[in-house]
Amino acid sequence: MTAPAADLAVETRGLTRRFGKVVAVDHLDLQVRRGELYGFLAPNGAGKSTTLRMLCGILEPSEGDGWVLGIDLRHEPERVKAAIGYMSQRFSLYDDLTVDENLAFYARVYEVPRADRDGRMLQMMRLADLVGRERQLAGQLSGGYRQRLALSCALVHRPRLIFLDEPTAGVDPVSRRTFWALIRRLADEGTTIVVTTHYMDEAELCDTLGFIYQGRLIAQGPPARIKGETFAREVCELEADEPARAAELLGEWDTVEEVVRVGGRLRIILAPGAPTPDGLAEMLRARGIGVRWIRAVEPSVEDLFVSFVDKERKARVREQLRALAATQPVGGPGAGGERGGSIPPQSNESAVAPPQRK
Ligand SMILES: Nc1ncnc2c1ncn2[C@@H]1O[C@H](COP(=O)(O)OP(=O)(O)OP(=O)(O)O)[C@@H](O)[C@H]1O
Ligand SMILES: [Mg+2]
Repeated sequence: MTAPAADLAVETRGLTRRFGKVVAVDHLDLQVRRGELYGFLAPNGAGKSTTLRMLCGILEPSEGDGWVLGIDLRHEPERVKAAIGYMSQRFSLYDDLTVDENLAFYARVYEVPRADRDGRMLQMMRLADLVGRERQLAGQLSGGYRQRLALSCALVHRPRLIFLDEPTAGVDPVSRRTFWALIRRLADEGTTIVVTTHYMDEAELCDTLGFIYQGRLIAQGPPARIKGETFAREVCELEADEPARAAELLGEWDTVEEVVRVGGRLRIILAPGAPTPDGLAEMLRARGIGVRWIRAVEPSVEDLFVSFVDKERKARVREQLRALAATQPVGGPGAGGERGGSIPPQSNESAVAPPQRK
């Protein structure tokens, strides 16, 4: 078998994980370049967390191969665990320990040399803007600060690669923005970041996007290239006098791939070769429907994602994405078949006993 490419931080070939009859990850061929911010975008249950757990060395693949920072995932999972940082879907903080104590715990688990620990912890506090909160209990921090503390804990041993599993789920928009500014900076400074998200605005900030559906990678590339080449559709919005009837009519036309109602507007994805927005408005007017305005708009990542899944599932997936954007996605299913070892506790996949409070 050929060796993994040196410029790749992650490479998988046919990586697969089954749970009984469920194929959670289905022959995934993944390539993440060193230093890039790679985003996995997918609906619930698509296999994101399972993929990340395999890449972190805590879950054994059923089939296929993978290398993480050049380390063979199947043969040296322990080395993978030590080399990477991982922030699980449910942050793995100890609520009854202080900010300081949580960081110190992770510094010890990740074997940061004793002489470096204080300096490294201070650096992490500064990075996450936690200075002044050292003595606060993690359980009493707000969602945004908890999330930044969890990131600091995953970074305390200065990994060159970090995996973040829905790090902003349930965090308010301002904290989300602050958090993304932080991880964008880390990526720009050379850390490779693999992050999963349901949020379209976050996906747009990634260097490369991977769309996963039912355990398979269905599209991959920089957001702009996916928009321009892979998707290659015009999107427009309009406001009509009778939106319900307009939507029904539009949905019947071959030139229209999809119609979605967004508030009082209709959002339309046009099939290749469709008329211009003005032409579309004329067609509607000819059927007696008044069009107040119509204009071409930028496709969103949501449009892209929905276009990749087969037609009958479109509405359901869009509904799901909406619901996710509006509410807090809940934690993933219970972990099963995990490897043992000394990776720090990740929600229910803990392998390390919690430290005792002094
Ligand atoms: N330990 C497990 N035992 C059995 N089935 C599992 C286990 N872990 C995951 N699965 C199944 O594998 C599939 C993928 O789950 P996974 O948690 O990887 O999805 P996800 O994309 O992370 O979803 P979410 O957005 O909800 O976090 C699902 O069908 C899930 O039920
Ligand atoms: Mg998940």
